[in-house]
Amino acid sequence: MNPESVKSLKVGICGLGTVGGGTFALLQNNQDEIRARLGCDIEVVAIASRNLDAANWPGVSQAASDVFAVVNDEAVDIVVETLGGFDPAFEVVRQALANGKHVVTANKALIAERGSELFPIAHKHGVCLAYESAVAGGIPIIKALREGLAANRIEWLAGIINGTGNFILTEMAAHGRQFDDVLQQAQALGYAEADPALDVEGIDAAHKLSIMAAIAFGIPLQFHKTYTEGISHITPEDIDYAAELGYRIKHLGIAKLSAQGVELRVHPTLISKKRLLANVDGVGNAVVVHGNAVGSTLYSGPGAGAEATASAVVADIIDIGRAMLAGLEQPLLPALGFQSLRGEIPVLDIEEIVSEYYLKISAQDKVGVMAKISNLLQQHAISIEAVIQKEAVSESVPIVILTHSAVEKQLNQAIAAIENLEDVNGAVMRIRVESFGGK
Ligand code: HSE
Repeated sequence: MNPESVKSLKVGICGLGTVGGGTFALLQNNQDEIRARLGCDIEVVAIASRNLDAANWPGVSQAASDVFAVVNDEAVDIVVETLGGFDPAFEVVRQALANGKHVVTANKALIAERGSELFPIAHKHGVCLAYESAVAGGIPIIKALREGLAANRIEWLAGIINGTGNFILTEMAAHGRQFDDVLQQAQALGYAEADPALDVEGIDAAHKLSIMAAIAFGIPLQFHKTYTEGISHITPEDIDYAAELGYRIKHLGIAKLSAQGVELRVHPTLISKKRLLANVDGVGNAVVVHGNAVGSTLYSGPGAGAEATASAVVADIIDIGRAMLAGLEQPLLPALGFQSLRGEIPVLDIEEIVSEYYLKISAQDKVGVMAKISNLLQQHAISIEAVIQKEAVSESVPIVILTHSAVEKQLNQAIAAIENLEDVNGAVMRIRVESFGGK
């Protein structure tokens, strides 16, 4: 493309749900601002979505129900993929890249699970595959990791990276609401995935975590090796006990680099109430990134929703537009997966990690039970930091224990031994505690 001749950038949008519709609206609503920043107009020339009613999308010359009409439209410079899922999203992105079009996608599952197939195609055709909106909604975390922190060796990052899950935990904690009731509201607000199990079981967060870790540590995308635990087993009781101990429960994605390998894990986590991260509520997301030069930095903002996510989609369009206007052959967005900084590095098994733990044990209200439990913990080299013993309910008494740091494998052995005690009812509830390298 000859930059002199560019009057406007031509965009085609595939998928007009929450994010695609939000992108269309944002490009219209902020067009003066965007034109002033970019130096030319961005025009949506083609759109496609299932059951499309063209009358609802004024000013678009091509409106279709077949998404491949956008991909094969010669007028389109940049394809926005906001379909979600894999089919037909993978083929849409693959064909668009092969047709020499830049692609902007909000599809975290696609990038995390099939990005390693798509980036080489982008590279081969000298086009860009941009995905800022795939992680943490409106927060420019990809840009921060890739550009702002490029001078650092990133040692760890941890974040609330699913808006739906955070909204649920916040509402349960603040108003004692039921899990299912809040989930329904998150769906109505357009926060949740089409299959909300992806949100509450931590899969969505694992997608996002594996993308951030790949950029931060210069390692391959490793979604399938990410340990994933959801929030559906967290009860209002756990939230209250954690609060009594000075903690909030958040669903965190944690990635840590060590001499032994890399930890990639998503699970509910107790965080001290004093931490900023513990106070990121509702649909908010936040990521703490620790670089060896800069120390800890925090990025926070809305993690889901039409406008917030569209903000990141449009930022990617503008970035690509700037590169096009500058006449760059390859946009200045290094393709994820090509920056291998450390080659093969093992992903540690969850049993190898070291953490502090919250344990909730339902025991018989009998003399000596607490002594037996602490004895078993001691036998497995686990020391106790705090204990709360609640009033007995019928014959059962909830015992809540906070441990010092322990190796998870030993903790699991201790839990198995505690569950075997005659005086203990049912399974022990275990939630990891994160202190971010300090209290
Ligand atoms: N379902 C996702 C969330 C949408 O709740 O965070 C944004 O990726």
